[in-house]
Amino acid sequence: MALAEEIGRIPEVLVAERVEHVRYAIRDIAVVAEQLSREGKRIIPLNIGDPLNFDFQTPAHLVEAVEKAIRDGKNGYAPSLGLDEALEAIRTDAERKGIRNIQTVFVTYGVSEAADICLTALVNRGENVLVPRPDYPIYSAILAKLEAEVNFYRLDENRDWEPDLEDLENKVNEKTRALVVISPNNPTGSVYSRKTLEALIDLARRRHLLIITDEIYEKLILDGDPHYPVASLAPDLPVVTLNGLSKAYLAPGWRVGWVVVSGPAQATQSYVENLKKLVRARLSANFPMQYAIRPALEGPQDHLKEVIAKLRARRDLTMSWAGATPGVRCVRPRGAFYAFPRFEIASNDEEFAKQLLLEKHVLIVHGSGFGMTKGTSYFRLVFLPQEPLLLEAYRKLGDFLRKAL
Ligand SMILES: Cc1ncc(COP(=O)(O)O)c(C=O)c1O
Repeated sequence: MALAEEIGRIPEVLVAERVEHVRYAIRDIAVVAEQLSREGKRIIPLNIGDPLNFDFQTPAHLVEAVEKAIRDGKNGYAPSLGLDEALEAIRTDAERKGIRNIQTVFVTYGVSEAADICLTALVNRGENVLVPRPDYPIYSAILAKLEAEVNFYRLDENRDWEPDLEDLENKVNEKTRALVVISPNNPTGSVYSRKTLEALIDLARRRHLLIITDEIYEKLILDGDPHYPVASLAPDLPVVTLNGLSKAYLAPGWRVGWVVVSGPAQATQSYVENLKKLVRARLSANFPMQYAIRPALEGPQDHLKEVIAKLRARRDLTMSWAGATPGVRCVRPRGAFYAFPRFEIASNDEEFAKQLLLEKHVLIVHGSGFGMTKGTSYFRLVFLPQEPLLLEAYRKLGDFLRKAL
């Protein structure tokens, strides 16, 4: 039989239905941009929160720590929970921030894997988890994989994108297992007040929800707002705190994150056992990179001053542009490096982002990629680029927007 004929008879590989609901617009739209780049077009990427794409560098003492680890032959598997000195540094750092009742600490392959493990150990099929909308889509993607439900609660644009507590209260049902909190927030740049965090804690306490708090941007606060680790405000509750080296320590490619589980021992015992089982089942996180954790948490923090100064200037530039551009409304971001403006356009948000990319070669992500309803016209801008590049992107975006109004 001819090969072509035989190939024609091979049935298509059947795929898992659960992937149908997995979406990750931040990278999905980049596929079109990659094609344009291959055609020689210069794209301005305001889509991915990777500081290393611009004028930010991993602090030298962290690079040296990893290089030394590699040279010293630390290239085998790590202990499943993580390198002892890293675990100790994470625990000490958490205690310094007022987190008590720590039940376990482990290192993961970024906050992304941390979220995956923490949700996998928790939810059964058909249960749901409260996730803020607009969302950081990794949570929805993981829940889709687990055949669990995303239960979106509203962030309120009119209150600086803080959670709408009434909406949140109404969303809890008998299948709700956890509350995801992200502050400073991606994609809105908001930093929640202590009062808001206490209200979220109060809800979790009354409705018996596990709090999963993603604090990856805790050190990237632009206007001096205080950061309150959620777990430090709720020592009586089971709280999972996620953090890592990707953002404030400028090493997203190292894929280093960690988890701190705190709360009463009796309430967290089975959950911690489940987590440890999953952590063992995936062998270990990256080994040499874990040698950067202690120097990151305990060494010089000088780079942060420069990072925050750059981000503040670029945020201010973003706000000046938004204020001066007809058809743009934008809440002032106070943390992280994202703005989430609304454009007064008639077209569909995804189509707008695609056409902007094709015509002006500026890559931004449409709000429906962050769970916003189709037909609304929000977009996420990453304001990491140097000022000249950012200005060029905003000029092009402004030109394109003028035509779309
Ligand atoms: C809120 C939030 N959590 C987690 C991550 C991913 O972190 P990691 O690189 O550690 O997987 C990001 C990355 O953009 C994020 O914005």
